[in-house]
Amino acid sequence: MALKITVIGTGYLGATHAAAMAELGFEVLGLDVVPEKIETLRRGEAPLYEPGLDELLRRHVAGLEGSSGRLRFTTDWAEVAAFGDVHFVCVNTPQKHGEYACDMSYVDAAITSLAPHLTGPALVVGKSTVPVGSADRLARVLAELAPAGQDAELAWNPEFLREGYAVEDTLHPDRIVIGVRSERAEKLLREVYATPIAEGSPLVVTDFPTAELVKTAANSFLATKISFINAMAEVCEAAGGDVAKLAEAIGYDDRIGRKFLRAGIGFGGGCLPKDIRAFMARAGELGADQALTFLREIDSINMRQRARMVELARHALGGGPFLGKRVAVLGATFKPDSDDVRDSPALNVAGQIHLQGGQVTVYDPKGMENARRVFPTLGYADSALEAVRGADVVLHLTEWREFRELDPEELGEVVAARVVLDGRNALDAERWRRAGWTYRAMGRPTA
Ligand code: UDX
Repeated sequence: MALKITVIGTGYLGATHAAAMAELGFEVLGLDVVPEKIETLRRGEAPLYEPGLDELLRRHVAGLEGSSGRLRFTTDWAEVAAFGDVHFVCVNTPQKHGEYACDMSYVDAAITSLAPHLTGPALVVGKSTVPVGSADRLARVLAELAPAGQDAELAWNPEFLREGYAVEDTLHPDRIVIGVRSERAEKLLREVYATPIAEGSPLVVTDFPTAELVKTAANSFLATKISFINAMAEVCEAAGGDVAKLAEAIGYDDRIGRKFLRAGIGFGGGCLPKDIRAFMARAGELGADQALTFLREIDSINMRQRARMVELARHALGGGPFLGKRVAVLGATFKPDSDDVRDSPALNVAGQIHLQGGQVTVYDPKGMENARRVFPTLGYADSALEAVRGADVVLHLTEWREFRELDPEELGEVVAARVVLDGRNALDAERWRRAGWTYRAMGRPTA
């Protein structure tokens, strides 16, 4: 009999995981504690923007014309417990307010809400990013609260999906990592991931702490690469070098690799920044804080990039206060192909300039609704052209394709001054310069 799967939490991770499991042929029941999200999902719509996710949902959500009917949603814990053989916990672990540590309350609530309903054998699989040691603690909570006792087992299976590529990354992961304590758990997870494994995704089977650490280590490494290249950008600026050429040249060494070496205003989002901070906090608790002091520097290089962008804008406007200056900001999300503005470097830079008196107008292809919600006092425009109208300087802060394809001639007609600062090193500098613009980017020569 085919396994039945439940997915707890329907954010970026959970909504994608649920839809992908249905695509792989499983019967899936998704749960969220927010009824509005469930209503949206039942209509076959994702509660967030993620390329390809709406299509996948429409293909599987029960009750929609032509769907497989394999994917349903509920808010009822008892229904979830009764339905599933394998329960994936996909809830958020944000940074605690005013602290480095991560907030485990949603994961804890998921386990304590589900466990009392588990009367028979079940595998509960944690996917959320958690401090090392959490799985061990949660396994004990589960065994205590579940009427099934030891038959309700825990496993840890970190998720590496990138926003913007979530569907692709979930269906074709570049690796699958499972932390297990029994052969039964391993067997069940091998069955769940049989298709990607058969298609060549490597499977790493390990213990709980290693599985938890793989995720935080991977994100810390990625953050380190970005801050490394941003540090090189600072040096290039001081020495008159070009960080884009430098990144290209070091990246040809396949021990280094070309990816994640794009200098600019740095990393943001719901993962990298909070994960490195939570990792430092956890290492401190374990008495291993010395091992991770470098992450403090990674974090501060990253935050400095945002401040340096603000200074670059001030400099471009003549060096005085921002008061009375019109600043156009292209991009609000933390990366393209997402509507996510959590810890977005773009919005942070826009906000800093606004707080210093600049008249900021933001445009983003998908992030406007979220940006307006978190930063209602900024100015917003409905298109790039409207955002730059009358601008004294244009800041390119999220590298959407739409911005790369803008016509600098057309934009040049409506701005007050043809000055563009490329915070993502992603525009075609020559094209903008040919159209009469002063083009500046971090870590690159002025002309
Ligand atoms: C990240 C990890 O990549 C993913 O494996 C994990 O599961 C979740 O966290 P995500 O947050 O979606 O994914 O974004 P990612 O593509 O990693 O980008 C993070 C940030 O780094 C973005 O703000 C991006 O603009 C920035 N970045 C990325 C750079 O500044 N330079 C680069 O070269 C690459």
